[in-house]
Amino acid sequence: MDEKRVAFITGGTSGIGKEVSLTLSREGFDIAINCINDPKNYQDVKKEVEANNVKCILVQGDVSVYQDTERMVKEVIDEYGRIDVLVNNAGITKDNLLMRMKKEDFNSVIDVNLIGTFNVTKNVVPYMIKQRYGRIISLASVVGVAGNAGQANYAASKAGIIGFTKSLAKELGSRNILVNAVAPGYIKTAMTDVLSDKIKDSIKEQIPLRTLGETKDVANLIKFLSSEDSSYITGQVIHVDGGMVM
Ligand SMILES: NC(=O)c1ccc[n+]([C@@H]2O[C@H](COP(=O)([O-])OP(=O)(O)OC[C@H]3O[C@@H](n4cnc5c(N)ncnc54)[C@H](O)[C@@H]3O)[C@@H](O)[C@H]2O)c1
Repeated sequence: MDEKRVAFITGGTSGIGKEVSLTLSREGFDIAINCINDPKNYQDVKKEVEANNVKCILVQGDVSVYQDTERMVKEVIDEYGRIDVLVNNAGITKDNLLMRMKKEDFNSVIDVNLIGTFNVTKNVVPYMIKQRYGRIISLASVVGVAGNAGQANYAASKAGIIGFTKSLAKELGSRNILVNAVAPGYIKTAMTDVLSDKIKDSIKEQIPLRTLGETKDVANLIKFLSSEDSSYITGQVIHVDGGMVM
């Protein structure tokens, strides 16, 4: 491709999203990072990305709010004129057993993880269709495939992302837009730091590779899915989980 490629990463200032932003910047992508809080707090992330000799902008907004996603996508297009890779990474958990789960906690997890993925994708796809090129990569989870006690809301949101991904792969394949989901197992980030050592040890027992994953394990797969090396792969859910769910 002659033009500079552009990647837009939601929730890209921490954890897996930050690692993806840095990894794709090392591949030469100009980067747009969505953050929910004030961009002033993330100037260090912007500088780290720019140190790889690419451009970086921060766009503030809540992915669960449709108008925010409309405005954010416009900001990215105004700056770069195109979006080649969309990484739907923003996500939250509000774990509890169903008996104790409040309706609001079910709804808010669906709102951010699933509706947020719809909102951003819906606004990006028209540009990808015009370009006749695009890669949409969404963060699912092995929990969306196998289920998990205490995570009915989260698992439903991630299973929804899988159905969304497969449907869009069928809708958009003829437009040269590839749509895939990445399903991490347990990766060391703020999301899993909250687990006690006892729970972490019992999780490791269920993982054939006997260790939690690193953010770079997920970012390396997303790098591959963003590259020309993956041009015959669409509609897939690829696990990065040390063999936890097969
Ligand atoms: N860490 C894991 O073990 C693991 C496993 C499977 C899937 N995932 C998925 O990977 C993704 C990244 O998770 P992480 O572990 O890096 O966690 P994280 O908490 O570090 O990152 C989540 C990011 O999403 C942002 N965010 C939350 N709500 C938002 C909203 N409404 N609008 C915009 N941004 C919002 C947060 O500010 C944060 O930057 C999530 O979708 C998560 O479900 C993580």
